Amino acid sequence: MKFIGDKIAIGDVPVEQIAAQFGTPTYVYDEAKIRSNIRRVYSAFSKHYPDFKMFYAVKACNNPAIVNILRQEGAGVDAASVNEILLAKHVGLGGEDVMFSGNFLSDDDIKQGLASGVIFNLDDISILPRLLKFGKPEMLSFRVNPGYGKSNVGEYVTNAGPNAKFGIHPDKVMDAYRMAKEAGIKRFGAHMMTGSCITDAEYFPFVTGLLMDIIGKTAQTLGIDFEFIDLGGGLGIPYRPDEPGLDLDKAAELTAEMFRKKSAEYGMKPPQLKMEPARYFVGNAGYIIGKVHSIKESYKKIAGTDIGMNTLARPAMYGSYHHIFVDGKENEPRKTIGLCGQLCENTDFWVKERELPASLTEGDLVVVENAGAYGFGMSYQYNGRLRPAEVLVNGSDIQLIRERETFDDMIRHTTVPERLKN
Ligand code: LLP
Repeated sequence: MKFIGDKIAIGDVPVEQIAAQFGTPTYVYDEAKIRSNIRRVYSAFSKHYPDFKMFYAVKACNNPAIVNILRQEGAGVDAASVNEILLAKHVGLGGEDVMFSGNFLSDDDIKQGLASGVIFNLDDISILPRLLKFGKPEMLSFRVNPGYGKSNVGEYVTNAGPNAKFGIHPDKVMDAYRMAKEAGIKRFGAHMMTGSCITDAEYFPFVTGLLMDIIGKTAQTLGIDFEFIDLGGGLGIPYRPDEPGLDLDKAAELTAEMFRKKSAEYGMKPPQLKMEPARYFVGNAGYIIGKVHSIKESYKKIAGTDIGMNTLARPAMYGSYHHIFVDGKENEPRKTIGLCGQLCENTDFWVKERELPASLTEGDLVVVENAGAYGFGMSYQYNGRLRPAEVLVNGSDIQLIRERETFDDMIRHTTVPERLKN
């Protein structure tokens, strides 16, 4: 995003033009920024550990155009469901370029996962006997809960430790791999995903040490070679303007150092180091452009926008902060204003109070930053307010990559029994 005078542009395209061409609310992604984000991660980690491979956790933003950008940059896909495996296939990825990290899998998930030939990353030991009923994958990974996790988004996305639903308890990890080995599985990996949005560089080597102690002992005791260790995602981005970002180079250097040290300590053949970031790749490359439709002077000044918790769920769900700019008004005097969406829910008051341009009025365009990850992917249709359009900007080029939903989409797949029609 940049300013041309007081007007805002994403890439080289003015947001005014995007709103005029595609309407509002619209998600906008900046291709160059996605590419530079992933390149930064790759070079930071591969510099210290050359056998480094990345997957993109597509849940963060599942538009095929975005997944293709990351594929072109060398990333595989981390899939949370069979449909995300199909999405990977849709962009030409399969086999060992796809990790299936779903949790509490159904029998159908297991059967379809096996048929797809991707890497299974099991979230619990209890799934293994069910998996073996249907087939035997050549390679298997388990998701380990190393006993500790954290997140800048709070408990909501702290995905390891005693309160998390994910991963295998450290005491059961050995049994899980033993059972798999005894069943004749030959190739192994290990995985963790301990939390999302972490900007503390020291955290990454710390949790890597926890995981490597568990896996190192398992490797030694069972005589297993781990082909890869996947440290999950979690690379954080700052959401507030004054918030310090992650020191990526430090995180990479210390993590690689810990990884190498622990592999050697346990006599492991150096495994491939994998990571599956999402937010770091796409978070700051995505924006939402919305419009102010109505101003209410009540107990406080409220601006009603077409961005609501249906468009961007994070503020209502997690109390998350997203920075907002007003096109053409950023240099004006400020006043405390609240922002609401159009839903019949008070949690849709998605910015309770913010210092925004005092003259904010009907027709103004607002631009929400850091909306590329867990934005559109978590949007939903409620109150007949349908999902936004998505567009991709590449320099001065702009293309629609998902149409805005319509009424037909809203009722698609519904059926009214004949007896209700008279
Ligand atoms: N791998 C697995 C298995 C995951 O579950 C996730 C995210 C990732 C990778 C990517 O994590 P990241 O690099 O983005 O931290 N909706 C929440 C975030 C939920 C994260 C879920 N798992 C939010 O809006 O903050």
